[in-house]
Amino acid sequence: MKRVRVTVPASSANLGPGFDVLGLALTLENVFELEEVEGFSVDVAGEGALTLPRGKENVVVRGAAAVYAALGRQLTGLRVRQTNAIPPGRGLGSSATAWLGGMLGANALCKGALPLEAILEMAVREEGHPDNLAAALYGGLTIACLDDGHVRVLKLPLASNLRFPVLIPDLEAKTVTARAVLPSHLSREDGVFNLARACILVGALTLGRPDLLRSAMADRWHQPYRLALFPWLAAVFQAAQEAGALGWALSGAGPSVLAITGEDAEKVGAAMLGALERSGITGRARVLGAAELGSRVEILS
Ligand code: HSE
Repeated sequence: MKRVRVTVPASSANLGPGFDVLGLALTLENVFELEEVEGFSVDVAGEGALTLPRGKENVVVRGAAAVYAALGRQLTGLRVRQTNAIPPGRGLGSSATAWLGGMLGANALCKGALPLEAILEMAVREEGHPDNLAAALYGGLTIACLDDGHVRVLKLPLASNLRFPVLIPDLEAKTVTARAVLPSHLSREDGVFNLARACILVGALTLGRPDLLRSAMADRWHQPYRLALFPWLAAVFQAAQEAGALGWALSGAGPSVLAITGEDAEKVGAAMLGALERSGITGRARVLGAAELGSRVEILS
C-alpha cells in the first residue's frame, strides 16, 4: 500500500478535576492523507492552513519518521495532505491529532507493524499529553495513567444522552504557559477534593447521573490558577450555569471551554459565547458529541 487516510478526533482533557488523566474525544476531526513518494511535501487545508509548517518539521512528518525509525526503516519521502477542522492552540487536542495522524499513517504504510499501545507510548514520549492522546486514539471517555514508561488506558462507555457545547475563543494559548502558572504542590485537602470529584465524575458520566456533574466537575488544581490567564472564564462558567449546563470546565489547558448538557446545548453554547463577547473577545460556539470510535485508518491504494 502506498496511500492511507487517518481521521483523528478532537479531545478535551481534564474535564475539570481529572488533571492530566481524563480525556473525552469529540466529534470534530482532522484528516491526514499520507503517501509514500520521493521528497517531502505538506499541504494544509482548513484550520492552521496559514501557520502550520510545511517541511520536515511538520508534526505529521515527524510522527511518521518516528514510526519508520522504530521499525528500523528510513523515511525518504512523504506527501502529507491534512484537512483540519480543529483549531490549533485552543485546548482541543490538535497537536495530539497531528502526532497520531503521522504515526498511525506511517504504521499503516508499514503494514501495521506496531500495536496501538506502542504507537500511544511513542506519541506520549513525543507530545507529552496522555490525556488527549488516549482519547484521540481510542475515542470516548478515557482514563490514562503513566506507569513506568508505559501508558495504561481505560476507555469507558458514556451515558448516551449527553451533549457537549464547546466555546472556542479567537485566541491561542500555549500549554506550557498555562502549566507555568500552576503551583508545584497541592495541599492534601485540595488533593482529596480533586480525587473525590474525578472519581465521582467518571461514575456520573458512565452511569448516567447528570445530577452529580456540577459538583463533580469542580477543581482546585489548575482552573483557579488559570483564571489569571483567562480573566473572562468565570463569566463564561456562570453563563453556562445560568443557561442550564449540567457541568462545565476549561478544555485542557484552554482557552476553549467544554460544557455538558442534555437538551439545552445550543442555549448553553450561545450563552457562553455571549459572555465571552461581553468581555471583548470574539469566538464561536459548537455543539459536539462524543466521538466513540477514536482514530480510524483507511487504505486508499
Ligand atoms: N492536561 C493538560 C493541562 C492539557 O491541563 O495542562 C493537555 O493534555
